[in-house]
Amino acid sequence: MTDYKNDPDVRAFRDTLGMFPTGVTVITARGPGGEPVGLTVSSFNSVSLAPPLVVWSLSGHLPSVPIFETAAVYAINVLAEDQQDISQRFASRGEDKFAGLAFTEGEGGVPILAGCCASFQCRQFARHPGGDHVVFIGEVLAFERDAAKRPLLFQGGAYRRLAD
Ligand SMILES: Cc1cc2nc3c(=O)[nH]c(=O)nc-3n(C[C@H](O)[C@H](O)[C@H](O)COP(=O)(O)O)c2cc1C
Repeated sequence: MTDYKNDPDVRAFRDTLGMFPTGVTVITARGPGGEPVGLTVSSFNSVSLAPPLVVWSLSGHLPSVPIFETAAVYAINVLAEDQQDISQRFASRGEDKFAGLAFTEGEGGVPILAGCCASFQCRQFARHPGGDHVVFIGEVLAFERDAAKRPLLFQGGAYRRLAD
């Protein structure tokens, strides 16, 4: 099997993609037993205004793939610059990611994290295979923002902040 991780071409490709700065989101849903699930995602972007569509992609080997594939509703929480610890928490395995975390509930009980810049509640619009990822297109059912907050950024493999 090809060792993609240590392939210098793959490394160069990743590093080159990393020149594109993004925000950082945590995408949340309810699992089959009603438990809250979520993971850190920077592949979020806008697609369409009418209908209102957004896109993100999920690594196909992650255990949460079937959860997001079957979730009626999921939420995209756009992290604020003081939420780097939440990004780290939702990018790691093996702990209760929601322990001690404040959140409200949206459509179908989907977790909406407190203190974020913005959130979008989405229902499944389309999914496409995308190589080693699954591409999700969500139709936005509801959205909100806190214009006083500044977003957390990610670029070149590191967290960044907006300059004043
Ligand atoms: C800044 C940042 C952005 C990320 N973006 C994505 C992404 O767009 N898609 C993805 O599948 N994983 C992404 N990840 C990795 C997942 O958050 C990570 O694999 C996480 O452990 C998945 O949760 P799980 O282990 O509970 O399945 C990102 C991680 C970080 C730190």
